[in-house]
Amino acid sequence: MKKVVTLILTMCIISTFSQANPIAIHPQPNQSFKLNRMPQQVNCHYTAHIKTSCISPSYTGNQISVAFGDTYGSQVYVPKLDHLSLGSFDQCSISTFEIDGPCNNQVCYLFLYTTGYDGWIPESVTISGYNAAPISFVYNTAVPHGVWYGYNVCNNGLEPILPYNHVN
Ligand SMILES: *[C@@H]1O[C@H](CO)[C@@H](O)[C@H](O)[C@H]1NC(C)=O
Repeated sequence: MKKVVTLILTMCIISTFSQANPIAIHPQPNQSFKLNRMPQQVNCHYTAHIKTSCISPSYTGNQISVAFGDTYGSQVYVPKLDHLSLGSFDQCSISTFEIDGPCNNQVCYLFLYTTGYDGWIPESVTISGYNAAPISFVYNTAVPHGVWYGYNVCNNGLEPILPYNHVN
């Protein structure tokens, strides 16, 4: 009986925890974020799916950069995500970018940077690629001008409960 109660309690705690955290964690501005300027080999391929929110402006002229990486110092940096196809970053669109960069282990941080004041609102950014489960970083909030803005979940164990494959 005691075991059953303990089990039920544990399950309650686990489900509360896993439901609460994706909501409780938000993208943050990171004034101390540093790009890794060490020369790195560029031999792995990634795909980034960036879904623009349906409450974003109908289009944006903002320049958008992304940096992501793992806990061991590998970092992929794209200074300018080109508006490859017409409609990239338009309201309700999904933009796909093929990115080559250094090989990472599990991606556990991602920051976006924009210059421009259009108030572009990403819904989520999903990275899939080498050596890594796809990981989605949920935004649903405008990226402020001129500051790296996103998540670093490398050291706090929250990484597995970010909603994976949010963009299908
Ligand atoms: C900001 O970025 C640094 C890496 O440059 C990282 O160590 C730190 O955890 C980040 N802080 C937040 C709040 O994301």
